[in-house]
Amino acid sequence: MGDGNPTSSIGPSQAANQDAQAGPLTVYPGGVLAGEAGAEQGLPGDKSLSHRAALFAAMAEGESRIENFLVSGVTEAMLGALSALGVPWHLEGTTLFVRGVGLRSASGGCPVNGGVRLDCGNSATTLRLLAGALAAWGAQATLDGSAGLRRRPMRRITGPLEAMGVEITSNDGCAPLFVSAAALPLRRLEYSLPVASAQVKSCLLLAALSADGPTLLVEPGPSRDHTERMLHAMGVEVSNSPLDGGRWMTRLSPPQPLALSPIQISLPGDISAAAFLTVAALITPGSQITLHQVGLNPTRTGLLDTLREMGARLELDHLGEQAGEPVGDLTIRYSPLQGVRVGGERVVRMIDEFPIFAVAAACASGETRVCEAEELRYKESDRISALGQELSRLGVDFSETPDGFVIRGGRPVRGGQVQSHGDHRLAMSLAVSGLVSSQPVQVEGAEMIHESFPAFTSVLRLLGANVAGGTDPD
Ligand code: S3P
Repeated sequence: MGDGNPTSSIGPSQAANQDAQAGPLTVYPGGVLAGEAGAEQGLPGDKSLSHRAALFAAMAEGESRIENFLVSGVTEAMLGALSALGVPWHLEGTTLFVRGVGLRSASGGCPVNGGVRLDCGNSATTLRLLAGALAAWGAQATLDGSAGLRRRPMRRITGPLEAMGVEITSNDGCAPLFVSAAALPLRRLEYSLPVASAQVKSCLLLAALSADGPTLLVEPGPSRDHTERMLHAMGVEVSNSPLDGGRWMTRLSPPQPLALSPIQISLPGDISAAAFLTVAALITPGSQITLHQVGLNPTRTGLLDTLREMGARLELDHLGEQAGEPVGDLTIRYSPLQGVRVGGERVVRMIDEFPIFAVAAACASGETRVCEAEELRYKESDRISALGQELSRLGVDFSETPDGFVIRGGRPVRGGQVQSHGDHRLAMSLAVSGLVSSQPVQVEGAEMIHESFPAFTSVLRLLGANVAGGTDPD
């Protein structure tokens, strides 16, 4: 790695394109899923942890090494932004090496390039986390991204960052965001997030590293706590505690001296990627698969709890800890499922899993009802409306509600052509429904899968699914 001069043995776009999905993806019914998948077979490292590890390592003093890093579209955006800021990093396979620039330069000023435009691609995590890091560095930059990203709500970060003393202009509450170099230290914050969101919480916690006292955040429910765990491991005093009514409080004190220790970690497998394989095996008669070293952070395991309530046969073995996170091997056996109700704190604990959960619900007997999940409308697509459109095309009995949906399950899935709506999770979920449809399911816009799970089709095929297109050589 050269000083202030980013180098890479494999550049992010090269890495990102290695396994890109080309053209529509077709999944054929029939077959049985059997076997194992883990890091070796393409089950990716956790997306949320990969973003955090890359960025926090950039903010640390010294060299970090991150194994099982997710190399995909969304992390390409994060790594590209780090290059633009002048943070040296390189990838060797899926091991990321970062030379941190610290929170302040040797002369006490901003340690990163100012005035740059950071292209966050489709990744709201990249944009929201970077906004917090820019605030902590006192750096000026423009944060922008794809047309899809420009539709995502950003007032949820700009409002509280402004209260801390960061000047930001936006396009009516959306990207592009222009972040001015803030005068440091920032003002400490006491703030209640209207919606539980780990992206917003993490943005504010990063800014809080450079505040003039401890910051207190309250959330209506327990959003993922990866930022707190990782910052704690890097020497920051940060804690979470439950409050009444299911609310959670996070408290962070700026480190004294103002420095983060570098990290040497291997990331757990992504439970949100594992979710697609889990439901695939649950709904395909005769299937049994084992997924190795999957992250089992309790703030992320809402889908497993819900599937168990539906009758899923799930087993956890070899429980341990990796990168400060609980991990284990997950064995899934085909199981007849019953409908279920989901609402309350469960929603945030499975926030990314509703598209694939909807496929499980379509295959379950009886009614499934999701409520208090309006946040699904602000993801990579409006997931309530997009799921309704696409699952209805496949013959699923789906009704949209303002804050969720109702699925009357057990009708045969017809098959046919569906659209990803530019949403990687919708693309993978619809593909999985093809395993049990009467006709093949063809997913248009399946290249989006590359955003979070580049080896999705290869892993499905390895486990025995009949899949064409994407990375299929045929
Ligand atoms: C993420 C938090 C969630 C999730 C996203 C990743 C994170 O978003 O949907 O895929 O890494 O912090 P919200 O915090 O906006 O709910």
